[in-house]
Amino acid sequence: MTRYVDLRSDTVTQPTQQMRDAMASAHVGDDGYGEDPTVDALEARFAEMMGKDSALFVPSGVMANQIAVRVLTQPGDVIVAGRSQHIVSFEMGASARNSSVQFALVDDATGALALSDVLEIIDAEADHQPHVAMLSVENTHMPSGGTPWELNDLRALAGAIGDRPLHLDGARLFNASVATGVSLKEYADTSTTVMACLSKGLCAPVGSLLAGSSELMQRARIERKRLGGAMRQAGFLAAAGLVALETMIERLGEDHRRARRLAELFAAAFPESRYDPGSCRTNIVAFDHPQARQIVEELSALGVHGGTVAPRRVRFVTHMGINDDDVEYVADVLENFRPATN
Ligand SMILES: Cc1ncc(COP(=O)(O)O)c(C=O)c1O
Repeated sequence: MTRYVDLRSDTVTQPTQQMRDAMASAHVGDDGYGEDPTVDALEARFAEMMGKDSALFVPSGVMANQIAVRVLTQPGDVIVAGRSQHIVSFEMGASARNSSVQFALVDDATGALALSDVLEIIDAEADHQPHVAMLSVENTHMPSGGTPWELNDLRALAGAIGDRPLHLDGARLFNASVATGVSLKEYADTSTTVMACLSKGLCAPVGSLLAGSSELMQRARIERKRLGGAMRQAGFLAAAGLVALETMIERLGEDHRRARRLAELFAAAFPESRYDPGSCRTNIVAFDHPQARQIVEELSALGVHGGTVAPRRVRFVTHMGINDDDVEYVADVLENFRPATN
């Protein structure tokens, strides 16, 4: 039987035994009445880790982003963001649909947004262009290859936009922190609202968290209800989330080490892509190739499963379910691999 090395995403991870045990014995109550002690504990722990007043447990990262947009904008406003960020390109137009806002997009090919690009959009307000209500950044930045932000760049952006809010899509903020040594609090301190996902590299089955001021989180609670994301005995899920926060962050370094080895293998196998393996600093290998979809399909047939995140962009992601042996299997497959010519 062909081997199955699943590098499609870190969302395919399974909960650990410790999470399963914690879920089975969780103390729960109706969170709609504010009576679930495990949800309360998870929200308090996350707020504390991020250095924010308060936090909200939500079913998904998309919902955390969408709630942030709801509490930080008015209909007709503009959000400045990188053109390939999740909130722009991978949420099915949700910001337009839910909040009647539009994006002003800046280049984010390297993962970072240039200060001058952002300031130019804000400056255009003086030329009869719509109100720029907020800035959204992604850390790590997924499509560029899981790139972590330099803290100084993020601080410079946050400082330059005045009292406009900055939302930090930190779906993989834990990866960023482990890779750079910048603390979660230092990253979060640049933001008005910060979200992070429990269900990616941290292996929890469900859930994300949004943190910010108490006033914003009170409003966020109402928006969560409006979006249908208020849950009842959600402590069963929060219990796994607490284990994720306590036990799963440090090990992300192993995913990063394996991704780096894969990056070197892919760079050697596809020199025409001009992929620089040094750009792989966390758990995502991503590069452009004219035959991206074909490569993904043909490697899948050999048991190496990845994906595409744009028409010519290939992505492979490491996570808890990938070990050194899997990586060496990929090495063997790539050694003789050439995409078939059409
Ligand atoms: C950067 C980023 N933000 C947000 C999300 C959304 O998370 P979810 O799939 O939990 O809705 C993802 C999911 O992959 C992501 O990569």
